[in-house]
Amino acid sequence: MPLVSMRQLLDEAAKGGYGVGAFNVNDMEQIQAIMEAAKETRSPVIIQASRGARQFAQDRYLFHLILAASELYPDIPIAMHQDHGNSFETCKSAIELGFTSVMMDGSLKADGKTPSTFEENVAVTKQVVDFAHERGVTVEGEIGVLGGVEDGHGAGGSGLDHITDPDQAVEFAELTGVDALAIAIGTSHGAYKFTKKPDGSVLKMDVLIAIHKRLPNTHLVMHGSSSVPKDLQDIVNEYGGKLKETWGVPVEEIQLGIRNGVRKVNVDTDNRLAITGAIRKVLWTQPEKFDPRDYMKPAREAMQKVVATRMTQFGQAGHAGDYSPIPITEIAKGYADGTLTTQPLVAAK
Ligand code: G3H
Ligand code: 13P
Ligand code: ZN
Repeated sequence: MPLVSMRQLLDEAAKGGYGVGAFNVNDMEQIQAIMEAAKETRSPVIIQASRGARQFAQDRYLFHLILAASELYPDIPIAMHQDHGNSFETCKSAIELGFTSVMMDGSLKADGKTPSTFEENVAVTKQVVDFAHERGVTVEGEIGVLGGVEDGHGAGGSGLDHITDPDQAVEFAELTGVDALAIAIGTSHGAYKFTKKPDGSVLKMDVLIAIHKRLPNTHLVMHGSSSVPKDLQDIVNEYGGKLKETWGVPVEEIQLGIRNGVRKVNVDTDNRLAITGAIRKVLWTQPEKFDPRDYMKPAREAMQKVVATRMTQFGQAGHAGDYSPIPITEIAKGYADGTLTTQPLVAAK
C-alpha cells in the first residue's frame, strides 16, 4: 500500500470514534516495532520524525525505511509525518522528500524556543497549508505552547504557562485551514510532566472539551501524551538508571480526550523508556554480551509491546482494513475543489 494522507487516516478515525497513536522514530528498530505492533493489532499507523530524528538518522534513510515498511506490510495504512516542524523550509523539505503529513509548530518561533505571536503563528502555518494542500499533504498546526524541552525544542517551563484559549483555537482553525490542531492542556514533552497523578488543576481536560464543543469536526491532537508507566520507570532504575519519581498522562484521560475529538495521540517517551529499560537489563545482567542484536532485539520487543498496548487503548486496533488509500493526487484535487473541507465547523458559544 502506498503511504497515505494523514487527513484520510484521521477522517476515518473520526468516523469510527477512535484515536490514532503517532509514534516517533529515529531508527530501523523503532519502525519495525511499530509495524509489528500494527500487524498484531491490525491498526493503521502514523510514524513521525522530529527535526532531531531527521538529522540523527539522515531523513532519506528514514524515508526509505518507512517505504520498506509499506512494502512489507501492504495491508497497513501508514502516514509519514514531520513532527514539530519549526519553519516553512522544514515542512517544505519534508514534503519534497515524500512525507504525507507535516506539523507546522508555529506556536514557537523558528528557534524552537521562543513563543511566537498569534499573528506570526497564523502566517507561517497558512503558508505551509497552501504549499502542502496543493500537493495533497496534511497539515497539523499548534495553538498554545506545551511545557518542557525535547532535544532543544520547547519553551521550557510548566505545561500550565500557555494553555490554549478556546476562542483563539477557533480563530486559528478558521484562518489557517489546518487539518488537525494540536492544543496545549498542561502536558509537557519528556518524562517529567507531573509531580503526582494529575488532576484537573494541572491537566486541563475541561479546556480540551470546551475546544471540542466549539470545533466539533476538527481533529484535535494531544502532544506529550506518554503515560510514563511506573513499571517502565522501575525497570530502568532496577538496572542502574537514575530516573526521578514522575507521572505522565493517565490513559483514561487520553481516552476521555478521544471521546471529545482527539484523533492523534503523540507518544515518544514511553517507547524511549521501554527501549532503555530493555537494553539496561541485558547489559547489567549479562555484562559479557557485546553483540548489539543481544540487546536491540529485546529493546525492539519492549517497544512493540508498549505500542500494541497503546493501539488497543486508543481504539485504532482492528481498523487497518476499513478503507482503501486515496492517492495523494486525489487528495490534492479534493482540497482544490473544496470537496475536502478546510474550514472548520464552528459551534456557537
Ligand atoms: O517532540 C518531541 C518528541 O519526543 C521528539 O523528540 O526532538 O528529541 O526527537 P526529539
Ligand atoms: P511524550 O514526550 O509525552 O512522549 O510526547 C511526544 C510528543 O508529543 C511528540 O511530538
Ligand atoms: Zn510534541
